[in-house]
Amino acid sequence: YVIGVDLGTSAVKTVLVNPQGEVVHEHSEAYPLSRPEPGWSEQNPEDWVDKTLVSLRKLMEKSGADPQEVEGLSFSGQMHGLVLVDAEGKVLRPAILWNDTRTTAQCRKIENTLESKLLSIAKNRALEGFTLPKILWVQENEPDILSQASLFLLPKDYVRYRLTGEYAMDYSDAAGTLLLDVSGKTWSQDIAAAFDLPLSLCPPLVESFDQTGTLLPDIAEASGLLPSTKVFAGGADNACGAIGAGILQEGQTMCSIGTSGVVLSFESRKELEVDGKLHFFNHSEKDAYYVMGVTLAAGHSLTWFKETFAKEKSFDELLEGIGSIPAGSSGLLFTPYISGERTPHPDADIRGSFIGMDSGHTLSHFARAVLEGITFSLRESIDIVRESGKEIHEVVAIGGGARNETWLQMQADIFNATIIKLESEQGPAMGAAMLAAYGCGWFPSLTDCAKAFIRPAKTYAPNAERAELYSGLFSLYQEVYSQTRELNR
Ligand code: XUL
Repeated sequence: YVIGVDLGTSAVKTVLVNPQGEVVHEHSEAYPLSRPEPGWSEQNPEDWVDKTLVSLRKLMEKSGADPQEVEGLSFSGQMHGLVLVDAEGKVLRPAILWNDTRTTAQCRKIENTLESKLLSIAKNRALEGFTLPKILWVQENEPDILSQASLFLLPKDYVRYRLTGEYAMDYSDAAGTLLLDVSGKTWSQDIAAAFDLPLSLCPPLVESFDQTGTLLPDIAEASGLLPSTKVFAGGADNACGAIGAGILQEGQTMCSIGTSGVVLSFESRKELEVDGKLHFFNHSEKDAYYVMGVTLAAGHSLTWFKETFAKEKSFDELLEGIGSIPAGSSGLLFTPYISGERTPHPDADIRGSFIGMDSGHTLSHFARAVLEGITFSLRESIDIVRESGKEIHEVVAIGGGARNETWLQMQADIFNATIIKLESEQGPAMGAAMLAAYGCGWFPSLTDCAKAFIRPAKTYAPNAERAELYSGLFSLYQEVYSQTRELNR
């Protein structure tokens, strides 16, 4: 067996996977998130370690697996979160997470100081969620803490350090810090020096499938595993989600709809310029990259709508009637900016809208319009990927957006691409397990592992008539942002 550990924002999920790629057992353990000030979002790294060990122990107990048979484990992690440790490896303050927005001033400082260097070296714009702005916030607001720090780590790297005693960070997660020279695959001396940060603050860089030690004896005992279990570096949750969906070759794209929505496309050209319109990160596959656009409130828009207007219904009941509502929801249009937007509008202040309400509209019209609005927002990311010179003919759908037939067909019609639904889908935890399987030498490449582990279940081809209708409505949708932007200030 191999184990995938997905260190998420609300919980850690562990999966035990056999050589056929089947998940024989899984277990999740939740941990709290604290919001001590508006816009702040923090977690206690000790909770991650405790719950990871509990989750591993329960996984082993409940599955009844022989620890001798567990060859290796690897990680997927929530990206960007800042963990600062001192020379003894002691955590200096709570972790500042990816969804913490306190760093707007630091982002402006980074953009103004580095100017075009930021995009040419780090390949991404400065967003509040990323790690460097968080380091600068600590530098400005808690200078004593930063002066005690000997290293910064990302969430899963801290947990891995505690499990193995070794410091490392893989390229896919390092890419989300804004301190990495993304195409050169080294820490950027230029960026660190611009903010008086010593490069010694940055941990050693490794590939996601590199082994970074074995389990410490007390950790092995607490988790029900053997000290000889190999530990592999692992990757960012989006990179691992992509591996778990088999996005490992040029031309492959996935659309993942969870709380937020992600359009992610494999990229082999390290010199590709997307001008900061998409995220451009190193993949967990060697010398590969991916571009990614994000809709902040994707599944969140649907959950908000259900909780506010149809609390008594289940999701299935709410969506039951949408198949009989015509494409375009009889003139009702929704923009999903209920908590701001990221791609293509990095705008925290924009808010959503329903446009074209008619006395004939029913709850089902509104539910369909919400799904269409979310999907239009994702189409904006698809279009930017296409503008970068990529062709998108097929899209693997994962997450909540892959659970409803009408929504899957809608994605095919709005993206004008064939949608592929997978047989079983475990998200980033499976990608982490695949990194361990490849690292253990089960397969000659990650692509071979994906061929063995990932099976398509069904495809949805675009319907020409609806695709044409949606393409007209999409132009209208795109106008709503500029027309309502000022109204929302
Ligand atoms: C990516 C991002 C999120 C986190 C969630 O840029 O901020 O997807 O990785 O864990």
